Amino acid sequence: MKSSKNSVRDVLNTSLFPWPGHSSDKFTVRNAVEGIQIFGATGSGKSSGSAKRIARSYLEHGFGGLVLCAKPDEREVWEKYIKEAGRDHDKLVFDSESGLQFNPIRYEMERDGEGAGQTLNLVELIMVLFEISRNFSAGGGGSGKDERFWDNAVKRAIGRIIDLLYLGNQEVTIENMRKVISTAPNSTEAKQVVEFVQQTRNPEEQEHVIEEANNALERWKSRSYCVRCLLTALDTEDFDKEERSRNDLVQSYFFREFARLADRTKSIVEESFLGLVEYFNSGLLKAHFSGHVSPELFPEQAYLEKKIIILDFPVKEHLLAGVLAAGIYKYLFQQSMERRKIEDNGNLTPVFLWVDESQFYLSQYDQLFATTARSSLTSIVYLTQNINNYYVAMGDDNSEAKTKSLLGNLTTKIYHANSDFETNEYASKAIGERFRQMTSIQKQSSNPASPTFSEQLFPQVLAGDFTTLQKGGNPSNGYKTEAIITQTGHMWSNDLNYLKVKFNQRD
Ligand SMILES: Nc1ncnc2c1ncn2[C@@H]1O[C@H](COP(=O)(O)OP(=O)(O)O)[C@@H](O)[C@H]1O
Ligand SMILES: [Mg+2]
Repeated sequence: MKSSKNSVRDVLNTSLFPWPGHSSDKFTVRNAVEGIQIFGATGSGKSSGSAKRIARSYLEHGFGGLVLCAKPDEREVWEKYIKEAGRDHDKLVFDSESGLQFNPIRYEMERDGEGAGQTLNLVELIMVLFEISRNFSAGGGGSGKDERFWDNAVKRAIGRIIDLLYLGNQEVTIENMRKVISTAPNSTEAKQVVEFVQQTRNPEEQEHVIEEANNALERWKSRSYCVRCLLTALDTEDFDKEERSRNDLVQSYFFREFARLADRTKSIVEESFLGLVEYFNSGLLKAHFSGHVSPELFPEQAYLEKKIIILDFPVKEHLLAGVLAAGIYKYLFQQSMERRKIEDNGNLTPVFLWVDESQFYLSQYDQLFATTARSSLTSIVYLTQNINNYYVAMGDDNSEAKTKSLLGNLTTKIYHANSDFETNEYASKAIGERFRQMTSIQKQSSNPASPTFSEQLFPQVLAGDFTTLQKGGNPSNGYKTEAIITQTGHMWSNDLNYLKVKFNQRD
């Protein structure tokens, strides 16, 4: 951005480019930060058409941002755009060869700003990990059982586990969380431990009883990681007031509530952690997401230093680990942007969150972020083939409503050629109907035929029209790909609420 633009309004009004072939229809920073959704079948020209136009404009106008690479060739394409825009010095590639590390839990504990290290935030982070891995593994819709992850009981369990690790002076890691659950005492065992503790603390108790109780507790400590943490926390004397009350909750939780919790809830929590532990203990996630946090990877770098962070862990190569890696980073990037304070005369660098194959990394948090992205000057750009991809990714519960809420907050929709009926119908309905004059001729035996005219509502763009848009890679039309673009509540220079645009792939 030019330095003269120091009010938020000036920045929002900046034109990024006119849509090709429509010189008075400008795409502005305001449009950018109100979110973009690009739909289109594979090969319809999303990447080489509309996405290329938008990506280049962001780079040329000094945006910082995050690019998630689902496909192996995505990184190369972005490196080319970045080079062409003269932004090489702003590029940061995070891949298997980079030697960079980003431990999400540690980042959440160590970062600056409100809520850092708060149990609630860590619980949300863990829930997002579960959600992403569930969606990926389900591959065709989560099962009812998995929806239970969202039960308050499960969330509370995770919160107490995190608190216990903190109060028991242990590092908060996925592995340690799993150890707590899998060694938590059942209700009979819990009663025993509580009794031993009471005996050791009772001044009237006989000495040999106290000694035996102490020995029993030592045995418990070596046998159960959970009990060891509980006893360590119990023996800690320098807790402040807030820690003391947290400790009371944790002790009563593990010695009473959790012990009595239904086996089913316990096993769901344990199984989910087991799954995550497996991933974080090997390969990509162990090498790059379990150690420390490289300062370059603090997401704030996107607006502070206009960094363009390319996360290159393609899904085909890394499978779930790649999805988890990118999904976690994306989530923490979104949160970091939400904490950003935008004021006139302050840092007004817009940033983008660029996600091709966006269905892989979707979590319920996206819906929320889409409503706030504008106020942090963040442009969400999501590319996916069709709307069904989102229904699947949003899980079983109200997935259609959730998808539509997300889409409702991504103001610019770009529809390339598509054979997916539901996407085409969604687009046709969103564009809406218009009165058209219909002529009909009724022939009755006694009278000569006469035409009648009537006005009828008719879809402005038929669902079928999206199937015949020009795809890419066609030399006979000069490598043009077509798209129909809408912006909620906006009339274009053609006096319609949609615009048909041709992109030249060779530009
Ligand atoms: N610069 C280009 N010139 C000519 N053809 C291209 C170019 N880029 C891509 N194509 C072809 O156009 C088609 C659309 O490509 P692409 O934009 O990658 O589609 P999508 O991202 O929707 O899957 C593909 O068949 C691809 O091979
Ligand atoms: Mg593509």
